Amino acid sequence: MTRADTATKRAADVSAMFDEVSPRYDLINDVLTLGNDRLWRIATTRAVAPRKGMRILDLAAGTGTSSAALAAEGAEVVAADFSPGMLAQGRKRHAGNPLLEFVEADATALPFEDDSFDAATISYGLRNVSDPRRALAEMHRVVKPGGRVVIAEFSTPPSALVRAPYAFYGRHLLPRIAGLINRDAAEAYRYLNESIEAWPAQQELASWLREAGFERVGYRNLTFGIVALHRGFVGRPLAPAEATPAAEKPAAAKKPAAAKQPAAPKKPAAPKQPAAAKKPAAAKQPAAAKQPAAKKPAAAKTPAPKQPASRPPASAQESGAEQ
Ligand SMILES: C[S@@+](CC[C@H](N)C(=O)[O-])C[C@H]1O[C@@H](n2cnc3c(N)ncnc32)[C@H](O)[C@@H]1O
Repeated sequence: MTRADTATKRAADVSAMFDEVSPRYDLINDVLTLGNDRLWRIATTRAVAPRKGMRILDLAAGTGTSSAALAAEGAEVVAADFSPGMLAQGRKRHAGNPLLEFVEADATALPFEDDSFDAATISYGLRNVSDPRRALAEMHRVVKPGGRVVIAEFSTPPSALVRAPYAFYGRHLLPRIAGLINRDAAEAYRYLNESIEAWPAQQELASWLREAGFERVGYRNLTFGIVALHRGFVGRPLAPAEATPAAEKPAAAKKPAAAKQPAAPKKPAAPKQPAAAKKPAAAKQPAAAKQPAAKKPAAAKTPAPKQPASRPPASAQESGAEQ
């Protein structure tokens, strides 16, 4: 059994590990989470708010369980993953679903055009990516202005009363139960637990989202914080009228300029074009007014009549927990 190293998460090892658990992956999930995974998926689907006509990227989609829930609402879903074994299971399971397309892709170098999705989501995948910040930057690059990302990931229960028994379960029971269902899976589920323990808590992941350029970042705990649902929006470009009197604008409110940022760490080079030049990180940039027009050419990417990718929910809470 391949067992990825939690410190390096070498792509070949992670991919091989998921290839090997793929045949019984969904069953093991159901058992290990006592069925809670189904409730978490419902919450994730609601947060993405899929609608007919939307094109949604489900990243690290695995066997496509979360993708199918999005497609069930009428959205066209690209289920991307780098494990051929998980993709093969997904294609078999969802054969004949015209709204679901499985694509082999690495989250850190997506083979998609800029602004080509109305929304992107990743469920229990970001933690497995060797460079999760780069994956976030890639999600920011491929989602249209106004579109959202939703991340479902294991997290840190705020209460010590939950943390202690949960840690015991993860370290001692989880690999054994997984091993009973699939003898070879015990090692993979030891990795799963280690990767959860090493994963940043809610606030830190929220700060990664902001660094990647997402706006109105927030999160909500599910099942006492065993899972957290993070979301953020891609900022819209300035309307020409807003863009002119640079000095009069409140700096933080508008889509800022990219020029101040070191391009590489924030927006890694995308296959098509350097993402940093197009959608700068909003939260970090006080100098929004300096050069808005140069960064996001309105004509090329976001003409005025462009349809918004999605509407933020009225109840969306910014920069913090939604309980
Ligand atoms: C725990 S599974 C989650 C699958 C699915 N999203 C779900 O909710 O059931 C994690 C998935 O992440 C994928 N993965 C990990 N790193 C990846 C990367 N860099 N690019 C694409 N997929 C990746 C694995 O192949 C695996 O299918």
